[in-house]
Amino acid sequence: MNKMISVLFVCLGNICRSPMAEAVFRDKLEQKGLTGKISVDSAGTGDYHVGKEPHKGTRELLDRNHISYEGMLARQVSYGDWSKFDYIIAMDDQNITDLSRINKETEDVYIAKLMDFVDDPGDENVPDPYYTGNFDYTYELVSEGCSKLLDFILKKHTIS
Ligand code: 4NP
Repeated sequence: MNKMISVLFVCLGNICRSPMAEAVFRDKLEQKGLTGKISVDSAGTGDYHVGKEPHKGTRELLDRNHISYEGMLARQVSYGDWSKFDYIIAMDDQNITDLSRINKETEDVYIAKLMDFVDDPGDENVPDPYYTGNFDYTYELVSEGCSKLLDFILKKHTIS
C-alpha cells in the first residue's frame, strides 16, 4: 500500500489564510473522490491565536461557498511537522523565512509557496486579509493555488 501523502498549509496566525487553504483543499479532495487518500492540515508560524477557530471573515467566506471548516482550531507549526508532512505550503515569503528558523531541514519535505504552483499568479504571495480585509480576493488565489497544487501532487504520485 502507498503511504498517504500529507499536506500542511502554513501562514502567520493560522486563522485567515492557511485554514482557508486547508478547508478549500479538503473540499477539492472530496469533489474528486480523494478523501482519505491525501491528508491535510494547517498551522501558523506564530502562536497568537492557538486554539481559536478561523477568523470570522474566513468562516463567512467558507459558509458562502458551502465549504466545511468543522473542528478546525489554530495551532503553531512545530519542529516535528517536517517529518510528519510531505508538503509544507506557505502563503508568503515571510512564512518561508519563519519556517526556516523553526527547522532548517529541507531534505524529506517539499517546501513551497502556494502561488508557486500557479502560472502567472495575480500575486506571488497570498495577501493577508487580516490586514487587507479582502477575503474574496484571497479566496480566488487560494482556490486556484489549491487546484494547481492538487494537479501537481496527482501527477507526481500514484494515488490509488
Ligand atoms: P493569517 O492572518 O496569517 O492569514 O492567519 C493573520 C492573523 C492574525 C495576525 C496576523 C495575520 N495577528 O497578528 O494577530
